[in-house]
Amino acid sequence: MSEPDIKKGLAGVVVDTTAVSKVNPETNSLLYRGYPVQELAATQPFEAVAYLLWHGELPDAEQLAAFEAQERSLRPLDPRTVALLDTIPVDAHPMDIVRTVVSQLGAFDETLHRPGGWTDRELDLGRSAYLFAQIPTVVAAVQRRRRGQEPIAPRDDLDYSTNFLWMTFGELPSAAAVDVFRISMVLYAEHSFNASTFTARVIASTTADLYSAVVGAIGALKGPLHGGANEAVMHIFDDIGEASNVVPWLDTALAERRKIMGFGHRVYKNGDSRVPTMKAALDVLIADTGRTDLADLYTALETEFVARKGIHPNLDYPSGPAYHLLGFDTEIFTPLFVASRITGWTAHVMEQAASNALIRPLSAYDGVDERHVGD
Ligand code: COA
Repeated sequence: MSEPDIKKGLAGVVVDTTAVSKVNPETNSLLYRGYPVQELAATQPFEAVAYLLWHGELPDAEQLAAFEAQERSLRPLDPRTVALLDTIPVDAHPMDIVRTVVSQLGAFDETLHRPGGWTDRELDLGRSAYLFAQIPTVVAAVQRRRRGQEPIAPRDDLDYSTNFLWMTFGELPSAAAVDVFRISMVLYAEHSFNASTFTARVIASTTADLYSAVVGAIGALKGPLHGGANEAVMHIFDDIGEASNVVPWLDTALAERRKIMGFGHRVYKNGDSRVPTMKAALDVLIADTGRTDLADLYTALETEFVARKGIHPNLDYPSGPAYHLLGFDTEIFTPLFVASRITGWTAHVMEQAASNALIRPLSAYDGVDERHVGD
């Protein structure tokens, strides 16, 4: 038998087709259901992008109004979720808390008891909308609890992004803050077979339910090589302190062969298609807050790292400082990514279910040869 051709990390392997999004590293472009993500970020509410990812088409005015009304009605937390949150240590990582709540919501969903209920598309659409609406309420409550503050109930007269910021900070956000937040949600929503989405598809491929797939995806997103990078970027900024420290800091980091978070991508090798849009949004916040020190640090690290390694920033590089300037704790950044990517994950779970094959690759054994007890 010939030696198997092992693709470590599945690099370069095309596992399946998808109609949800197209990543084109040659042209640095990202399409959601055919639409360039920059166009969606410039023109669409996040609710419309969620609808697009699930249904394949942007909603018309009536469809959008119906979905918005559904989403607003699904925001309040079940008292059992409020009680669960109170049992979790305040200093637990917010990703662990969000993962635990999604698991609880799955255990409470009685439609899972119906025959065929685990993979029914109509039920999955309802579950997707439910998680889409619930996660912001959970994340906002977790952020407030970390600061010793009481949770704030969702408001059904506010859109998704305004309500998210309202529930978190307890004051009506500026139009600029809402727009930056909305843009980040649109940009994070979907990115083909990334590690967390693939995890969700692997779980869905066993015909387990959507909640199980999302719990697994949240676990995969937590790692700093994936979603956790937006938090890690902020830790790096805190560590460096100011622009004048970039060169010595980078000398040490590279001498220690450390990965610089927020740079590099498995698919994009010449820059991430989402970065310019998010950087422009970050610049709005920098102008609003006068935090030119942060802008200087951002530019200095990018310039120096690209010059030395030729590796470009990914979306987490501008989104980390943007979330910081919006007022979120660093540990909340990856749960914000969850709030967005729940749309892409669930779209992929439904796509997997519609054309399923169990995902079960092979491995090449390199352990000890056969032996026997007593040999
Ligand atoms: N900092 C320093 N070096 C980096 C780097 C980074 N952020 N990203 C890649 N490299 C280097 C690697 O060390 C490796 O160098 P080597 O060939 O001398 O060993 C080379 O570039 C190839 O990197 P590799 O990790 O094999 O590529 P990959 O496709 O597996 O990695 C990532 C993709 C995202 C895992 C990687 O770029 C990374 O760890 N980035 C930081 C985390 C991050 O921002 N993740 C969010 C992604 S959206």
